Amino acid sequence: MKLWLAPLHGITNYMFRNTLCRYFAGIDFIITPFLPVQEKAKLNVKNWKDVWPKNNALRPVIPQLMGNQPAHFVDTMNVLHDTYGYESFNWNIGCPVSQVVHRKRGCGIMPFADRVEEVVKTVCAQTPFRFSLKMRLGLHHPDEGLHILERMNNYPLDFIVIHPRLGKQMYEGTPDLKAFDHFYNTTNHKIIYSGDIFTMEDYRRLQQHYPKIEDWMLGRGLLRDPFLAEELKGMETGDRQRRFIRYYQLWVEEMRTARGEMGTLHSLKELWHYYRYLCHLDDTELRQLLRINTLEEFLSESLRHIENQG
Ligand SMILES: Cc1cc2nc3c(=O)[nH]c(=O)nc-3n(C[C@H](O)[C@H](O)[C@H](O)COP(=O)(O)O)c2cc1C
Repeated sequence: MKLWLAPLHGITNYMFRNTLCRYFAGIDFIITPFLPVQEKAKLNVKNWKDVWPKNNALRPVIPQLMGNQPAHFVDTMNVLHDTYGYESFNWNIGCPVSQVVHRKRGCGIMPFADRVEEVVKTVCAQTPFRFSLKMRLGLHHPDEGLHILERMNNYPLDFIVIHPRLGKQMYEGTPDLKAFDHFYNTTNHKIIYSGDIFTMEDYRRLQQHYPKIEDWMLGRGLLRDPFLAEELKGMETGDRQRRFIRYYQLWVEEMRTARGEMGTLHSLKELWHYYRYLCHLDDTELRQLLRINTLEEFLSESLRHIENQG
């Protein structure tokens, strides 16, 4: 069994990934949050700290790309290879955010199977790199994704990550496993499953239903419970509270150095939408925590929650 850290734009940046991998075991591979492809003349990858090799030394990392122009993919992959040595790239055709979808990017490209195929065909013909997709079931209907999968059987993709929701669902409702059954039976490619693995029971149920899948991606489940990857692999988690506090404090220090007090406070507030589960905060307690406006007060109050209930 292999475990992948999901790309979570705005959350799983290199600082988050490195702190997580230093303090918790179990994650084997990482896909970065998406980066925009561009034509060569417009690319400035020197600024893309998230893919600097020195920021990605702890696990194998695959840069994720977003776009819809075949030539831009070729240019961006070549530049990332020449500058940083990357040889494997992932294409995001699953992002459901409306500004992205309107520009026929992310999940917005899924109704246009011809364009998807054109990008994949061009990349496979014009670059020597490994290429993979991360997709949803479709934007409006699972037929869109099935149609893409059928065509992809003709290309040497590395793997396909599938999140079994439609774009219009965003992250609401539950993954549609009935539809995913068809995807599972349609593709020749290695599938990485992504979606709503929050507990060992979730994982076991999926694993029994999809015995051919060996690669599982953890996103919000790992945010809610950073011990999840260790648990799924049957590792001993030890003194969870002590380990979590050390991890939390280290991450805050790294963020404070890189982003300052307010940037850190902003990111912490985002994370506490997930850590609330670890610390069993009800809605009122979460609201009170999120109302705090200084980093110092937020830290002492959040540590109190961790110590009380973590
Ligand atoms: C805040 C947030 C940001 C995300 N950013 C990305 C992204 O940059 N690229 C991507 O392919 N998927 C992105 N996703 C989707 C996740 O990678 C994952 O497929 C999805 O959350 C389902 O898995 P989970 O239930 O384990 O979180 C994002 C999801 C969330 C909630």
